[in-house]
Amino acid sequence: MAKHDLDPNYLDPDYEPVVNHSGNTPFNEVLAARMQRRSLLKGSVGAALASVMGFGLAACGSDDDNNGSGNGGSNGGGNDAVTELGFRAVPVSTENRVVVPEGYSAQSFLPWGTPINGDYPEYRPDGSNTGAEQEQQVGMHHDGMHFFPIDQKAGGSNSSEGLLVMNHEYINQRALLKHSNTEPVFDEDGKLRGYTHVVDGDGKRISDDVRKEIAAHGVSVVHIKQDENGTWDIVFGSPFNRRITGNTPMDIRGPVRGYSKLRTRYSNDGTQTRGTLNNCSMGPTPWGTYLAAEENWHGYFANSDSEQPREQTRHGVGSSSRYDWELADNGADEYIRFDVTPGSGSATDDYRNEANTYGYMVEIDPFTPESKPQKRTALGRFGHEGVIFAPAEEGKPVVCYSGDDSRFEYIYKFVSAKPYYKATAGGYLLDEGTLYVARFDEGGAGEWLPLDLEDAGFAAKVAESEGSMVGKVMFNGFENQADVLLNTRLAADIAGATPMDRPEWGAVDPNTGEVYFTLTNNSNRGKEGFDGPDAANPRGPNETGHIIRWTEAGNDHTATEFNWDIFVFAGGPGTETEVDGEVVVSLDDDNIFNSPDGLWFDYNGRLWIQTDGSDAPPYQNNMMLAANPKTREIKRFFVGPVGCEVTGVVTPPDVKTMFVNIQHPEANWPDSDDPRPRDACVIVTRNDGGVIGA
Ligand code: FEO
Ligand code: CA
Ligand code: CA
Repeated sequence: MAKHDLDPNYLDPDYEPVVNHSGNTPFNEVLAARMQRRSLLKGSVGAALASVMGFGLAACGSDDDNNGSGNGGSNGGGNDAVTELGFRAVPVSTENRVVVPEGYSAQSFLPWGTPINGDYPEYRPDGSNTGAEQEQQVGMHHDGMHFFPIDQKAGGSNSSEGLLVMNHEYINQRALLKHSNTEPVFDEDGKLRGYTHVVDGDGKRISDDVRKEIAAHGVSVVHIKQDENGTWDIVFGSPFNRRITGNTPMDIRGPVRGYSKLRTRYSNDGTQTRGTLNNCSMGPTPWGTYLAAEENWHGYFANSDSEQPREQTRHGVGSSSRYDWELADNGADEYIRFDVTPGSGSATDDYRNEANTYGYMVEIDPFTPESKPQKRTALGRFGHEGVIFAPAEEGKPVVCYSGDDSRFEYIYKFVSAKPYYKATAGGYLLDEGTLYVARFDEGGAGEWLPLDLEDAGFAAKVAESEGSMVGKVMFNGFENQADVLLNTRLAADIAGATPMDRPEWGAVDPNTGEVYFTLTNNSNRGKEGFDGPDAANPRGPNETGHIIRWTEAGNDHTATEFNWDIFVFAGGPGTETEVDGEVVVSLDDDNIFNSPDGLWFDYNGRLWIQTDGSDAPPYQNNMMLAANPKTREIKRFFVGPVGCEVTGVVTPPDVKTMFVNIQHPEANWPDSDDPRPRDACVIVTRNDGGVIGA
């Protein structure tokens, strides 16, 4: 086995390099701004901040335990009973199993390797399934997921049969491959860190392993149905069962389609590409399709040039790739494309532009199995965590929100140019419109800043920045709007957006229209050389994260102004969230949590919060909690097995079955007889057949 250059972050596939050097919010400006913030963190961190700030939080500490129980919230009005939490919270857990409340049951479903189409190749626990077989089996590292009722296109809400569509974010090579095709990685002090793929004497990879890894990424569409006993199973032979992988042909749509910086040997006119990768969260569209997000796509490409274009540097594309797919020993075109080093010819002779065909939201129509996925470039190119649509209104623009999950990156909103009409709505609505980025001001105000060269304000900022450094990049202008969208992060720097603490999932309250986003954590906030705390990201470092929310002006999702507050600060026991001098949440044994990530409003308006954080005490294994958005009551509902993150949650419209994904379990879960851990979905039901959470 030859030595090979391993991506130093190989064992941390969530690794997001800090590549925002824009310095948009100088610390001294922030200090003044924080004086007027509406939501205050209390407890030890808050007290420490208060002393820095020179104002006291005298009432800090263990006063009342007003974390709500059906009343008393600041949100006022409405019928609290609709969203109250009717189960007993489960304690934290270190067990290698799923824990759910008394009166509920949980069962694993659709683990990695489950055959879903073609020849239905059986899963083999020795890693000997081939790449071709993996293309017919459920992928690995389950993440965002949605349930489409089978009769949705006809306006129905069938809750016992539908299409379950889920993302497969990345892979565990030791679990995926034959063990003999992997090798251990050791620390400097000789401690085993994990495993990676082997390479041969020429530094090449076994090409079928590469095929299998690419096939374990992407999206699964699975037609599922409940039998008369209530048991869910795959509908074998259904034409809807489908795998979309890191190698499936796709179209580029929207303003970036055909732009010269997307021309490749595969697509000389820059209109097509192959594959979608690192699909984290997703968003169902109002017309019944599925948008898969491309999050940490930068790690799949290698550029060995000494200098790299801004389209790569602003995302952290490195000189080696995480999985070395470009080194496949058969030299196939679909593998060498991951080497984006420019050759000596022109762009259509090589893959220098391949990485420019990634970083988008990808539309998949699960009800049309032969349809080609569409990369919707008008929604911007960045580390898309997911997307969430505001409720569609007849004759009004379509609006959706998307976070860029890296430290000090931004939250975006897209407003379509064309109006939504139920009868004719479709993906074309996502090809024309305005992309905005959020600025969160002190005092709870906020503004959406258009990233559009036709906007006079933005065009003036672009002109002003030309010829000067933006962060660590010498900014030499944008060729056109396609160039703006291709370099969305840079455009947002120039617009003056607020760098956030890693925006993950968003959710829109179906009862109030308020938009919620998880800010999972930011270990660098406030450290030397990085932005300090600000009103919307008030902790530095932010080790445990928080959830922010806002209301658009006039409750109109197309508005350019909004009002925000912090819904809850995550953390250990006694972590308090205060609004206008009143403690509205104080976390205790029933609801301590850290690093909120997945976020979803169910059809009754309960908010589900999933974690991807430290599993050390006091938090233990990652979990899912439910929240009442009116009262801010929060209760732990679900704890996952050892080493996992809990990510992806959905129910059918009746909210009587809940699908929850378990990603990267560490030990032999869900089958204790199988030596390999298998990512899987978990089906949660109430033993009395009732509504989940009620
Ligand atoms: Fe894939 Fe940001 O979590
Ligand atoms: Ca996530
Ligand atoms: Ca995460």
